[in-house]
Amino acid sequence: MNNLRPVGIIGTGKYVPEKILTNSDLEKMVDTNDEWIVSRTGIKERHIAAPDQATSDLAYEAAIRALESAGMTGSDLDLIIVATITPDSSFPSTACILQDKLGAKGAAAFDLSAACSGFVYGLATATSFIQSGMYNNALVIGADCLSRITDYTDRNTCVLFGDGAGAVVVGEVPQGRGFKAFDLGAEGAGGSLLQIEGGGSRLPASAETVENKKHYIYMNGREVFKFAVRVMGTATIEVLRKAGMDRTDVDLFVPHQANVRIIQSAMQRLELPEEKVVVNVDKYANTSAASIPLALVEAAEEGRMKAGDTVLMVGFGGGLTWGASVLVW
Ligand code: UT7
Repeated sequence: MNNLRPVGIIGTGKYVPEKILTNSDLEKMVDTNDEWIVSRTGIKERHIAAPDQATSDLAYEAAIRALESAGMTGSDLDLIIVATITPDSSFPSTACILQDKLGAKGAAAFDLSAACSGFVYGLATATSFIQSGMYNNALVIGADCLSRITDYTDRNTCVLFGDGAGAVVVGEVPQGRGFKAFDLGAEGAGGSLLQIEGGGSRLPASAETVENKKHYIYMNGREVFKFAVRVMGTATIEVLRKAGMDRTDVDLFVPHQANVRIIQSAMQRLELPEEKVVVNVDKYANTSAASIPLALVEAAEEGRMKAGDTVLMVGFGGGLTWGASVLVW
């Protein structure tokens, strides 16, 4: 990637809905308790979209902040990618809804389905388009309303998820900066470990699918945990190898925020000290595609990276999928 046009992040924005659902709120809804949730996951609270908010509304709020921070308006964009598993509807895409709302007239727009890895997949896609010269300025958003597909009678899953959106503008940056490598992958054989079975062409929505709760997230937590710990390590090592770097070059590690125990296992494997790792799962829980950009944007807002720092993002999720990137900020 080193001889190509340098492409990086030139604007950032995030949004979470106002309503907060705490662990003690959940104690009143299912048989759980704050001690279990905090010790097993690190989560203390999560934000939940208002009834009249859909994924595009969260994405829009993050997008206008990202555009403002890049000093741009919608008309400067020529590509919009929304990574999500909770689009407003099957079609039109959430990206097309945003294209209209942002006034990004004529920009290409599509949704990307790679679950919690979707944001990194989106960054890789936008970077490739821009490096090829096909487009100049892309908006990449990770946005999800997991509360809409969560069964709030299932304690195994309902404590884990939240809603939010993070957005970045991707464009040309000075030589030496920008994305240095990506490592994307999938293990489709594990798809049934984390899925929504109903509502697609295999099992269309019916009274029966609703009754049997086929429109909610199903997850085999233990198996996904094992996968997560494995690929967080392997994807990180592989993307560093591709970038010609090693773990000591990493200034800031921005992992998918699913479970603090998964993040800690990656920190140990990579021997990364706490101050180099972004953790905000306690405040937002797992927001799927929004998780990495929420962590990245929050770190940027807190001044945790300076120009020239090496930022490593890594995520894993449904598919099963993973995605990692090395970025010189
Ligand atoms: O971004 C998508 C990727 N998803 C993930 O990264 C999730 C990966 N998996 C995990 O984070 C963990 O597996 C969980 C947090 C989901 C579960 O933690 P665990 O330590 O693997 O617990 P477990 O599934 O082994 O369950 C232990 C016990 C069970 O009781 P028994 O069978 O031992 O009697 C569960 O029924 O904890 C019980 N349990 C709960 N207890 C209180 C499960 N959920 C709860 C709960 N409150 N909310």
